[in-house]
Amino acid sequence: MSKTSIHQVVKYPEAVLARPADTVTVFDKELATFVDEMFDSMYAAQGIGLAAPQINVSKRITVIDVSFKERPEDKLALINPEIVDREGKQVEEEGCLSLPEIREKVRRAAWVKVRAQNVHGEWFEVEGEELLARALQHEIDHLHGILFIDHLSPLKRDLVKRRIKKLQKNGEW
Ligand code: NI
Repeated sequence: MSKTSIHQVVKYPEAVLARPADTVTVFDKELATFVDEMFDSMYAAQGIGLAAPQINVSKRITVIDVSFKERPEDKLALINPEIVDREGKQVEEEGCLSLPEIREKVRRAAWVKVRAQNVHGEWFEVEGEELLARALQHEIDHLHGILFIDHLSPLKRDLVKRRIKKLQKNGEW
């Protein structure tokens, strides 16, 4: 058993969350270890998705597990992922480990097809609908420096930002 470390999740408005992440070009043992650490960090934070910028690493890497350890096949590590096809619409509530306590309805595609590399650099495709589609879009957004609150109306986004400021002022953020 190898021991991996848990990384702290950074919160909005940390600058790393707002900038596009760098493409991964080296597929070595270090990358595989880092992906394991991302899964550990995600589970420790009780999340079903985590993007590398959320642990202060500006690289195009994300991990997802929509069933949170229930079904092994749900465990996804996506390197340099891109949405190559999308269809339909869904509006559901979303949250984000970098925006604790904030939950808002976000409009997303109902189905997406994503192309990504695995830890060995091999390309593969994954398709998802419902929760998985939402997780894929949410996490890939992170790699572009986009948060779910960026999809809200200006009015709603303003309300959320004011709520965060209040939480910060009270030392609860
Ligand atoms: Ni998020």
